[in-house]
Amino acid sequence: MKPRIFITRKLTEEAVAPLHEKFDVRMWDEESVAVPRAVLLKEVAEADALWSVLADSINREVFEAGTKLKIVANMAVGYNNIDLEAAKEYDVIVTNTPGVLTETTADLAFALLLATARKLISAENEIRKGNWTSWAPMRFTGMDVGGATLGIIGMGRIGEAVARRAKGFDMQVLYHNRNRKPDAEAEYGLEFRELDTLLKEADFVIILAPFTPETAGMIGVRELDLMKNTGVLINVARGGIVDEAALYDALKNGTIWAAGLDVFEKEPVPLDHPLLTLPNVTVLPHIGSASIKTRLAMMNLNAQAITDVLEGRKPKGIVQ
Ligand code: DGY
Repeated sequence: MKPRIFITRKLTEEAVAPLHEKFDVRMWDEESVAVPRAVLLKEVAEADALWSVLADSINREVFEAGTKLKIVANMAVGYNNIDLEAAKEYDVIVTNTPGVLTETTADLAFALLLATARKLISAENEIRKGNWTSWAPMRFTGMDVGGATLGIIGMGRIGEAVARRAKGFDMQVLYHNRNRKPDAEAEYGLEFRELDTLLKEADFVIILAPFTPETAGMIGVRELDLMKNTGVLINVARGGIVDEAALYDALKNGTIWAAGLDVFEKEPVPLDHPLLTLPNVTVLPHIGSASIKTRLAMMNLNAQAITDVLEGRKPKGIVQ
């Protein structure tokens, strides 16, 4: 009998086709609807490999049900949706997709920064609503990005890629990270700051840290208060790093000037979320890695990791 793989989202056939020859591949048949929990638990009970996406909660219950499970391949670089302790206990390998999405996610981070600073989305919406009646001196005016100070929280691969882009915009780049990165400091002219100092000095703050117990709620009332009232917060990491109620108040009261969010505490963000009522928030549906080439590369990495584990080899991208 061929080993069984369960894929929690409908993926492009191009990525899945090579697996059919060697494995019994089962796949949830919706792309934009999450697999129901009951289906996931039923499928995982028969699966040797689980191919998950970041919207799936792969918690202890899943590992308990997956008695034959050898690998969970997660289609994301972040893996906060997976209970690694339970994976270890049940002796299941967990892999992610590092490297292949670095530049694409950095592009999106910078695009969101520019869009938020220059109010691109709301300006476009005004045209479509028929509200572009004449050139207006101070209407649609935003913040300059060129020459401004950028503060990056989390200096991993994506942080470095954002810093390189910022240098092209003549920005002073500050960063905060658990460990200092002397090589990146020397190569890109980055300047390390303690978190509070970074928040005080930066015109733009980009969050690129992983979501962990240490970073959960890292940006709250106190931290937002430290930012400039002309400051812009960009989050392309994970929603839970920012206290959304505190962010709402800070944006509403003018404590900070604007925010650009690709991620939310709860995704998809509910339509009645208070942040969506504010004009100074630019929102995106978690599309950091969403280029055609990158999403295919992520799928190929996952497919290769699953193949490696099911054929007894050590896969790339092991996080546990
Ligand atoms: C990831 O892969 O973790 C990113 O959030 C994708 O955008």
